[in-house]
Amino acid sequence: MPEVQPQTLDPKDCILVGLDTPDLARAAKLAAMLRGAVGGLKIGKEFFTAQGPDGVRAAVGGERLFLDLKFHDIPNTVAGAVRAAVHLRPFILNVHASGGRAMMRAAAQAARETAEDLAVPRPLVIGVTVLTSLDAADLEVVGQRGPVAAQVLRLAAVAQASGLDGVVCSPHEIEALRKHCGPDFALVVPGIRPAWAAAGDQKRVMSPAEALSLGADYLVIGRPITGQDDPAAAARRIAHEIAAAQRAEP
Ligand code: C5P
Repeated sequence: MPEVQPQTLDPKDCILVGLDTPDLARAAKLAAMLRGAVGGLKIGKEFFTAQGPDGVRAAVGGERLFLDLKFHDIPNTVAGAVRAAVHLRPFILNVHASGGRAMMRAAAQAARETAEDLAVPRPLVIGVTVLTSLDAADLEVVGQRGPVAAQVLRLAAVAQASGLDGVVCSPHEIEALRKHCGPDFALVVPGIRPAWAAAGDQKRVMSPAEALSLGADYLVIGRPITGQDDPAAAARRIAHEIAAAQRAEP
């Protein structure tokens, strides 16, 4: 079984902070400041390409890791990449759902087998459906059927049928995906902004409490936390706001 079941009870456990920097010292400093205040740290292609697996270990230490490398290749290659990734002990890693059924099945199997071999908890393997930078016209250009919302549901269903544990989705896809894929499918959601934070380049944002109440399991939050002088205080403020909203729910 995966280490972390979705819908954890402590609000801070839902918060995954994006360490969007290529710089090891900056990532390590953020990770140290956030220790114990959030549910995990997200490392993406920017940091990984600059610093490699040793950089990830050095920056993240023992914190929970979401390894956001969005693998997309032939099944054999993705399985090999997943096997290598599991050595970093991520609790979430991801692949592109458009890589197809065989690729996703190979990723899920590689994660399961490698975790067993290493005697570590199996990571959640989640799918990326349609990048939020793409609209219906972009899909058509690359030969994918739109509209975007329908393609998201289609790819999420394929991901679920191929043995993945969930998907990354925009806040505005949470409700439909929760309905479509049931309660046990993990929804990992970026594009989150507390009322007091600037939207930045995120065009369609949602508050942490609202995203969770609609059915999100994990919230990926970057600049509203990492851009503050005291990132841990910002994370605690978000966790308090989530807890207050949950207490107020009928
Ligand atoms: O700073 P911000 O909160 O916008 O960061 C959000 C994080 O989630 C970044 O790491 C970004 O790359 C990622 N992300 C996103 N939108 C998506 C998918 C991932 O913002 N659709």
